[in-house]
Amino acid sequence: MTQETMTSFEEIAAREDEFQLATYKKFPFAVERGRGCWVETSEGERYLDLYGGHAVAATGHGHPRVVAALKGQAERLLFYSNLVYSGVRARASEMLVGVAPEGLTKAFFCNSGTEANENAMRMARMRTGRERVITFAGGFHGRTADSISATFLGKYRDLGKPNVPGHLCAEFGSIESVEALADETVAAVMLEPVQSMAGVRMAPPEFYAALRRLCDERGVLLVYDEVQTGVGRTGSWFFAGSEAGAGVVPDIITLAKALGSGVPVGACLTTEEVAGSIKENDLGTTFGGGMLAMAAVSATLEAIEADGMLANVLAVEGFLRDGLAGLPGVAALRGLGMLLGVEFAEPVAARVQKSLLERRIITGTSSDPRVLRLLPPLCLTTDEAALFVEALRAALEDK
Ligand SMILES: Cc1ncc(COP(=O)(O)O)c(C=O)c1O
Repeated sequence: MTQETMTSFEEIAAREDEFQLATYKKFPFAVERGRGCWVETSEGERYLDLYGGHAVAATGHGHPRVVAALKGQAERLLFYSNLVYSGVRARASEMLVGVAPEGLTKAFFCNSGTEANENAMRMARMRTGRERVITFAGGFHGRTADSISATFLGKYRDLGKPNVPGHLCAEFGSIESVEALADETVAAVMLEPVQSMAGVRMAPPEFYAALRRLCDERGVLLVYDEVQTGVGRTGSWFFAGSEAGAGVVPDIITLAKALGSGVPVGACLTTEEVAGSIKENDLGTTFGGGMLAMAAVSATLEAIEADGMLANVLAVEGFLRDGLAGLPGVAALRGLGMLLGVEFAEPVAARVQKSLLERRIITGTSSDPRVLRLLPPLCLTTDEAALFVEALRAALEDK
């Protein structure tokens, strides 16, 4: 049966539930199309999307530049592997390195965030000849074996049992906890510079600066998992190099989510020094660097640049900070740019999310029951943000 012949939401949901593993708790609607910050359901209802499909739709749904690039590329060539050179891949690599913080001059393409993190850890082990990796309590790095073993958030690590050995857990924000672990067996310190799923937790700039110093002193590589924070979400291209992060540039940045505007693609960005330790056939993936994904990367970066989305992110963040400041029940606004955690005085995030959904606004929760997460497209307007502020005011009045 095709989607066109399925008439109602009930029918779509029944079939999906019948034929798909029930691994996700789903919202009670089926999306059919999207434009900018809005999605439309099978019943013709419009929702304001402040979640972006897990932070993926950074350029908004159906950005014309991205759609045109994908259509054009699909007609020319969908895919060829890394066995051949490709103008589309050359362009995407050059553009990505072009927006990267200084010193990160080499890209490696893969297909997802977890895969980018696995490759980053492998590169660090190859570069240092050491095996262990320090990550942080509350960090999330993906669901494949090495990445889930690096994930010290809630139940996730246990889902990956038996875990990959050599993963050590430090306290986010505590340089002393890293100092105590970073001996000559440690290849890398890897962190989400803003811990998103943990409830949008940030550390003060001094923490990132101290991490950089410690890693340099002890011959350890610093890896930023920017799967969520990268590609403009924080109002600069990357958290790496930004003021909030004390200008610190890590040895490796990992990316996915926003990078392809919805076409699956992941990447590692690294230095000449690290690249010097990686030889032919050390890393690889069939689909990484494929033409459709590369066209999506170039078009995504172009769209963010051409539409001035980085400046927009900062302007809309400012608007939301002002709008939410006096709202009864809102204790704080965590995070930065379009990675925001609305912290409530009480653990009401799930109830508020449901209430906003009834008002046709999609938001996310987090592992902190007091924090509602916003990961909207970077093209969110202040008018759209104002709709959210008013809906949140009303949702908080619901009992
Ligand atoms: C910070 C971070 N790292 C890694 C991942 C894993 O990415 P993927 O689901 O593309 O494997 C995620 C996914 O949510 C993430 O938020």
